[in-house]
Amino acid sequence: MNAKTPFPKQGRPWSEVKSDIATLRDDGIALSTRNQLMNGINLGEGKLHNIVQEAYNMYFHGNGVSAGMDPLFAQMQSDLLAWAVDLLNGGTEGLGHFTGGGSESIFLAIHAAREWARDNLPNAKEPYEIVMPRTGHAAFDKAAHYQGLKIVRIPAREDFRADVDAMNDAVTANTIMIVGSAPNWGFGRIDPIGDLASVAERHGLWMHVDCCVGGYLLPFLERLGEDIPPFDFRHEAVCSISADLHKHAYAAKPASTVMYRSKDYQKYHHVGVKISDWQCPPYVTEGTSGSRPAAAVVAAWAAFSVMGEDGYVDLNRRCLEVKKRLVDGIEAIEDFKVLPNQSLLVPFRSETLNMLNIYGGLVERGYFPWGTFDPMYVHPSAEMVDPEIVDRFLEELAEIGKGVREGTITAAALAAYAADL
Ligand SMILES: Cc1ncc(COP(=O)(O)O)c(C=O)c1O
Repeated sequence: MNAKTPFPKQGRPWSEVKSDIATLRDDGIALSTRNQLMNGINLGEGKLHNIVQEAYNMYFHGNGVSAGMDPLFAQMQSDLLAWAVDLLNGGTEGLGHFTGGGSESIFLAIHAAREWARDNLPNAKEPYEIVMPRTGHAAFDKAAHYQGLKIVRIPAREDFRADVDAMNDAVTANTIMIVGSAPNWGFGRIDPIGDLASVAERHGLWMHVDCCVGGYLLPFLERLGEDIPPFDFRHEAVCSISADLHKHAYAAKPASTVMYRSKDYQKYHHVGVKISDWQCPPYVTEGTSGSRPAAAVVAAWAAFSVMGEDGYVDLNRRCLEVKKRLVDGIEAIEDFKVLPNQSLLVPFRSETLNMLNIYGGLVERGYFPWGTFDPMYVHPSAEMVDPEIVDRFLEELAEIGKGVREGTITAAALAAYAADL
């Protein structure tokens, strides 16, 4: 398919169009079966995926903008959000909102913090500053840019966790927010949230925890006995949390949540338009979107409902088995080492082989170049895929390692892929 193809004068038969889509899905890099460990899509297991898809289709046409006018939908959304707050230890005071993804959740938390600062930090001058580790997600930079704030990124420690002292030192009179990730993207490491919350508390600032990856993963890893330090509202100074349902809750995109410790913080979330300001009823939306897929709420509710705590614990137990299979397999290959972490990512690198060439070999074999660039890690994710997919990945990785060592595999495929972007 060529992006320059003109708008069709006449429609084509659905069978033909459908076959184009099937080709895109099966032969493209994003959804191909072989790429399932490296595509950044959390599908959960087949059974759950089918249920989520069915639930989504049952409410396919629903428009979430009118939640307030649709009491049954509003109830479903509020149940879902109450469950979410509960999972992250928000107690009876915590309040959540449904959003279209981690970036929107972060955008809204920054917005609430800015409005809160205007009321509560009279000495801070705009542009306000947000102090965060360099390992925090790029969505913060976008949200800050749109809303006129300044991001101050502080290099993380060698273990890829936030450098609390350096972040404390970076606080100025204009800082309003401290951010930590649980865990960060790419390395899967959890920042010292308790220590960062103490920094926020000491300076009287808003503390946000980005749990986009961990929000619906860490609670279950904790229950499985993994070593997960408290990362959520259990820390008194945590004001807001972003947590994505479309990651490890295995809901359908677009689905995320932004949560606030209490009404004292949540009251800064909304931007409303009163009836006196325009010709229609008062207009208050859940997040930045107006019309939005109500089906995403229904599908997330379905995922939570069919899984329950036990279902997620069991699924994660099996994901951890896949992770172990990957870790053991990768470390059995000469030169590769995995970075231990508290997520389902399996970041690995070689200190001796050129990582660009390793990426080149992966791209040549149909995998996404999925990983970090500074420093270079490749990070497959422990998904519930057929064991053959894991074994094939490990076999191909061993081949790639050998090819790079012997000079027969280069970064050419990666360069060609990048040139096409
Ligand atoms: C830690 C973290 N925060 C935020 C985001 C942004 O989420 P989204 O892509 O849903 O907007 C991501 C996405 O991977 C993430 O890993």
